[in-house]
Amino acid sequence: RALVEEGAFVPDMERRNIMNLILLFGGVGPAVTGLAVPYILFFIPNTGGGGGSGTPALTKAGDAITFEGWLGAHNVGDRELVQGLKGDATYLIVDDGKVVRDYGINAVCTHLGCVVPWNKAANKYLCPCHGSQYDQTGKVVRGPAPLSLALAHVTDDAGKVIFTPWTEQDFRTGLKPWWN
Ligand code: FES
Repeated sequence: RALVEEGAFVPDMERRNIMNLILLFGGVGPAVTGLAVPYILFFIPNTGGGGGSGTPALTKAGDAITFEGWLGAHNVGDRELVQGLKGDATYLIVDDGKVVRDYGINAVCTHLGCVVPWNKAANKYLCPCHGSQYDQTGKVVRGPAPLSLALAHVTDDAGKVIFTPWTEQDFRTGLKPWWN
């Protein structure tokens, strides 16, 4: 009988730990549980990287992205998260003329690291965690975030979308990039 009770105790503890996790995330606000958690789960298996200076852009499922495939499945104005440099969630943007913008915007908030969703109506990235705002280029326009979102160049390697590090001046601020 003692064994049965012990056996029953373990899953109960697990359940309690899971509840604690839910409470922990839930405590930050409903927007976070709705938006940030799925992205966290997507991006835990970090398949980015790969040395060299360029990193193929990958879908959430880990598939390489081609310009043709991406533009065939997306519309002008779309901003969608893909895996970028170091596996960071990065926005790939489709601009007028149906071209992929030549830079990607790293979605990791410079305040405490939440993934920042794009808000089409506001024409800004709005962080659900503490209210930081970034304009359509990723430039910070409202704190508490101290810095603009990081940039990465988008280049074409035989039709594949490749990210390369942005090392020169940040055109939004006129400063050296803080992220290198
Ligand atoms: Fe984005 Fe705090 S993590 S505002």
